[in-house]
Amino acid sequence: MTSRVDGPLKVTGQARYGADNTFPDLAYGYVVLSTIANGEIATIDATATKSAPGVIAVYSPLDPPDLRKVSTPLFGETWVPLQDKEVAYYGQPIGIVVAETFEQARDAAMTMTVTYDERPARTSLRDGLATAEDAPPGRDGSPADLTVLAPGVSTFEEALAASPVVVEGTYTTATQNHAAMEPHSAVAVWDADGLTVYSGNQATNLQAMELAAAFDLEQSSVRSVNPFVGGAFGGKARTSVAAFLAASAAKELGRPVKVVLSREQVFTATAGRAATVQKLAIGAAENGELIALRHDSWCSTPMDRSFVEPTSHATSREWYATQNLAISQKMVPLNVPLTTFMRAPGEAPGSFALESAMDELAVALNMDPIELRLANNSTAPTGHDLLWSSKHLDECYSIGAARFGWANRSPHGRTDGDWLVGMGMASALFPAIRFPASVEVTLRDDDTAVVATSGADPGTGLLTVLSLVGAESLDIAPDRVTPRLGNSAYPAGGLSGGSTATASAGTAIMVAAAQVIDDLLAVASAPGAPFEGMEVSYADGGVLADGRTMTFGEVLRSVNRTSISAIGSSAPGEELTKHSFSSFGAQFCEVRVHKWTREARVSRMLGVFDAGRIINAKTARSQIIGGMIWGVSAALHEGLEIEENGRLANGDFAGYLVPVNADIPDVDVHFLEYPDTLHNALGAKGVGEIGTVGMAAAVANAVYNATGIRVRHIPITIEDLLP
Ligand code: MOS
Repeated sequence: MTSRVDGPLKVTGQARYGADNTFPDLAYGYVVLSTIANGEIATIDATATKSAPGVIAVYSPLDPPDLRKVSTPLFGETWVPLQDKEVAYYGQPIGIVVAETFEQARDAAMTMTVTYDERPARTSLRDGLATAEDAPPGRDGSPADLTVLAPGVSTFEEALAASPVVVEGTYTTATQNHAAMEPHSAVAVWDADGLTVYSGNQATNLQAMELAAAFDLEQSSVRSVNPFVGGAFGGKARTSVAAFLAASAAKELGRPVKVVLSREQVFTATAGRAATVQKLAIGAAENGELIALRHDSWCSTPMDRSFVEPTSHATSREWYATQNLAISQKMVPLNVPLTTFMRAPGEAPGSFALESAMDELAVALNMDPIELRLANNSTAPTGHDLLWSSKHLDECYSIGAARFGWANRSPHGRTDGDWLVGMGMASALFPAIRFPASVEVTLRDDDTAVVATSGADPGTGLLTVLSLVGAESLDIAPDRVTPRLGNSAYPAGGLSGGSTATASAGTAIMVAAAQVIDDLLAVASAPGAPFEGMEVSYADGGVLADGRTMTFGEVLRSVNRTSISAIGSSAPGEELTKHSFSSFGAQFCEVRVHKWTREARVSRMLGVFDAGRIINAKTARSQIIGGMIWGVSAALHEGLEIEENGRLANGDFAGYLVPVNADIPDVDVHFLEYPDTLHNALGAKGVGEIGTVGMAAAVANAVYNATGIRVRHIPITIEDLLP
């Protein structure tokens, strides 16, 4: 158990986040947002703005800075501000005022007068369902509509109709914002070598790639720097409006520019999670075996249709063995802020629907919810041939049940004084993925090592993991390894997204370490070196031969070298043709609902996970706790209310509820440790997202157990629980 290596810097305020960077002659930009949800900008009067104290420049679609369209292989097209006069949502960035101080820029921005040719806005997901569009093919290329039928079955409906027990329900989930502690921000500096941007992001090389596209530069002319990121959760994967605008204004003005979004601006000028509607129909045999599973999904999508929240594909597609499966995904374009990846995109809201429906099926069958899930435990995703590489979900259920006291659960909850107490559970799956990654490992003459890669640690613990895997691979103590992240000048190290970073960077470290050790041995046995011509080997941070040992630092000093480096790369390959890969878990929750006030409070929760090898129990546990708290938050707190005119009714921390300490009890986390070396050499899968998956359903299922009230939407509020 290793404490976060960057913890002391963070808690003492020494960690330098994007907006903490400052430069001589720094100018400040303040972003201007639209006040309609649909239309075209007709006129902008910036006369007063331009003559306000301290103002240096004003940019808008009528007076745009130099920026181009941005498209990359991984993210597709990323929205770049001020490209045209179209307004597609309330709170869309439509300008930037640059001034000598932040306050001057903000004050001047208030004087900008904008008129619009306004069109009616479409802001209701419910109203839009009738005109929903087919979603594009999913991440794995599978079509939005997909049916798998058992031999001899001609239609899904036939299988459902023939099922002895059927449950059906429609579930809805709310729009969310990532609400990361660090608002999106950037400081941009141009010099003879090109552009440097300090801006919290999930992968510096990808941010550099996007910025290079925006300015038509070679990627080598852009440096993205973000050693510390104050939370991202998918919301800082793509380059932010703050970064595009700071970089373009800095270029136009020839001086450094800082742009920081206010908390309210973060709610509309970045991107959040789509709202979803999901219709489930499950047919089962009396023994609980699934005969037919249908999961139809709709999600809101912004007018540019840039993101789909794939709830059915991310859950029902793979989670249970079923003879017949029908899933679909549709999207409803709305005049709402952009949507994007948010922690378990698809899996989080999808699992609320599927795992609530499974709970309803357990009730209908009069079966224990865990027994029902065990009866449908799969050896491979439905309709796929490739078996799971490693799956111990059954053990997650049984260990979880024992730790949580599941045997004491009554089908109708219990009462404790004025409280109605219930227990609920849900499954959690998240795909095990990795991306190509390169890492540089350097051995130095002072017997320390450096592990460097371009990825980012948005609070995940990746920096700590780099030092641990580096130390293990080099056979030295972790405190002798300096991990470095968050600079696009380092080898391209993948992305802190998709729960991929440990497996991606970790395997590359193993390759780089083996290479640098080989190189060291060659140096040590070369002509003139201490082990000239000898059979040398490496152990314990040193070179040995004939009973003699020298540390790598001693070897380097003896040949007058200060360091030796190697870059190692690793990428997914053959294994993808052999197995299916996932992390697995079981979530448990106890909820108390007050008999008279109807407030719901989570009193206990437990997550048990089979996520491969756990590199660092402490940071992994923190990741899972954060995810589980987010699940509680989705279940009982979070949800953006969109007014008819497209304005967010609660787009700030006064109105957008997130849990505080008093809302969260002790969280119990348990890992099964089955290294999955069929997935990658390190054996680690991922823990970044699975913690949030299943949690909202576990809460809703516990609410049902406590009260007998089935709430099919989140967040669940007091009004939903009135008797
Ligand atoms: Mo996260 S939604 O995997 O960036």
